[in-house]
Amino acid sequence: MYRNYCEQLQQNRQQEKGQKKETKMSGMSSDEQAKLFAKLNEGKSDSLLKKKLTPELYEKLKDKKTKLGGCLGDCIKSGAMNLNSHVGLYACDPEAYTTFQELFDEVIKAYHKVDKVDHPKLNAGTKEQLEKLQNLDELAPGMIVSTRVRVGRSHVGIPFPPCISDEERKKAFDETKKATEGLKGDLEGKFYDLAGLTKEEKTQLVEDHFLFKDDDDMLRDAGGYKNWPNHRAIFHNPAKTFLIWVNEEDHLRFISMQKGGNIKETYLRLVTAIDELTKRLKFATKDNLGFLTFCPTNLGTAMRASVHIKIPKLSAQKDFKEFCEKLNLQPRGIHGENTESVGGVYDISNKRRLGLTEYDAIMEMQEGVKKIIEKEMSL
Ligand code: ADP
Ligand code: ARG
Repeated sequence: MYRNYCEQLQQNRQQEKGQKKETKMSGMSSDEQAKLFAKLNEGKSDSLLKKKLTPELYEKLKDKKTKLGGCLGDCIKSGAMNLNSHVGLYACDPEAYTTFQELFDEVIKAYHKVDKVDHPKLNAGTKEQLEKLQNLDELAPGMIVSTRVRVGRSHVGIPFPPCISDEERKKAFDETKKATEGLKGDLEGKFYDLAGLTKEEKTQLVEDHFLFKDDDDMLRDAGGYKNWPNHRAIFHNPAKTFLIWVNEEDHLRFISMQKGGNIKETYLRLVTAIDELTKRLKFATKDNLGFLTFCPTNLGTAMRASVHIKIPKLSAQKDFKEFCEKLNLQPRGIHGENTESVGGVYDISNKRRLGLTEYDAIMEMQEGVKKIIEKEMSL
């Protein structure tokens, strides 16, 4: 499957050359790459990249290139330019996970807390298992503001931001748009080109937690905002309970969300969406890594399941972060990654996405959130 994927990438390139449309390779020089490695080592950084990319490993990987011309520098640029990164590494293209495997595997193992990079096949849960999913409003009325579950996906044959061309981004856009036509029931909606939305419409959608932004320095330095807003889009149903993000960090993000704490309903809607879209699109996968994504934190299930939950007492405790970490949960502010909490409301989600099934990941979130509720109530 992975070989087919690389062949397809090469075919795309050859076709484009035939059409006299040279695609943009990352084009980073070895000098620039060396400067980035030096920068990473100059300052203080707690990132996994800094921990795992030893001078010996750098020497070993520094002259390697992917078939699309992606180099180690493309993968470490964001982490070197942003020493406050937690991870600091991105895959310049899908092949980076093989070409720079020694580095990626170390970062993947540390982030997802696994001894071995060995992801299971997609498994959303059996009928019996799904009965264990809950509506947490019954347990703690009013405490959970909203629930959201998303997965990332990449189109087969289309590279990641450092190596993608505008034509390839358009291809991803067009293929996705076509795949959304004819979705039925809860999944039926409209496709909105980002370039066609007014500033006010975008601001409102972002404010209401439905739309992505373009203000993340780490993603910018990884090449994520090239040619913005070209070929970026959002699809959603009228109730905005099912959405698709197109060409943000990943080619695709499928999102199910709703008010309150009904984890079961939110998750099942996403599972139906994944089933439907799998019939219409081909997603990039690699043995042992599951679904391929731009950032190694999202590999595997590529699933992040979160609640916005009011926990003013627990979040004021000194050990709040450790409490979450022990439950394999990650706290974020309410406007997404690297934002602050407002009024004691936090975004709490599963941290691990690889090495466990989709069902395990949603249960890890649900059971952890139940412990958080219990603790908040006891304070
Ligand atoms: P992701 O990688 O999952 O897209 P971000 O942290 O960038 O995560 O969040 C994206 C958007 O989703 C933000 O606007 C954030 O506020 C919103 N969001 C995340 N979880 C929830 C939730 N449980 N309820 C409502 N909005 C949410
Ligand atoms: N590169 C950033 C860091 O290392 C983001 C990591 C995870 N987030 C993401 N959106 N992929 O901190």
